[in-house]
Amino acid sequence: MSLPAPDSSLKLAFDATLIPSTLSATLPPGLHLRPLASTDYHRSHLALLATLTQAPDIGEESWTARFDEMVALKGSYYPVVVVDSSSDQLVATGTLLIERKFIRGAALTGHIEDIAVSSSMQGKGLGKKIIEVLTALSEIVGAYKTILDCDPKNEAFYVKCGYENKGFEMARYT
Ligand code: ACO
Repeated sequence: MSLPAPDSSLKLAFDATLIPSTLSATLPPGLHLRPLASTDYHRSHLALLATLTQAPDIGEESWTARFDEMVALKGSYYPVVVVDSSSDQLVATGTLLIERKFIRGAALTGHIEDIAVSSSMQGKGLGKKIIEVLTALSEIVGAYKTILDCDPKNEAFYVKCGYENKGFEMARYT
């Protein structure tokens, strides 16, 4: 099986230059932070997300269709990943979703979603780095606030990332 295309020819989910180099340049050697790419199905994206929740293999065609939907909704989805260049596999990911509102003068809100660090790479600062990057992106695109839902067991992690508890989440599953 041929290897996925190198970084220089990847189709990315959003403009990589939006990511402040001051943040992406401070990863440990061999780790590279960039937007999700069209070939990341082959870099164990779904297996990485399974660290967080159910993420069954939907197949490359469905994965690519969802990637293309996100790209088409320009300015809405900012999925980022950390790649381990020695294995060419993803080791961390997270997404910023921008919500367009009528309130507060047609403001934007940033939602941080689907944060996952592969179990062997947890505790090395990658989760915090992903949150720093997504928060910076949210501010760069003009969101007046950035919010997220999390399990109480992760509250201390998000406090270390500069977030505070502002209430509780309610949900109704279909
Ligand atoms: N409780 C308390 N402190 C924590 C926790 C925790 N669960 N996790 C990390 N920390 C602390 C670390 O000790 C570190 O502290 P320090 O700066 O004083 O050294 C700091 O938070 C940063 O830790 P990282 O090493 O960046 O954390 P990591 O890379 O392991 O990522 C994460 C944390 C994302 C929770 C990871 O463990 C993970 O992927 N877990 C499984 C999936 C998950 O629960 N994702 C979050 C879902 S919520 C959402 O998506 C919005």
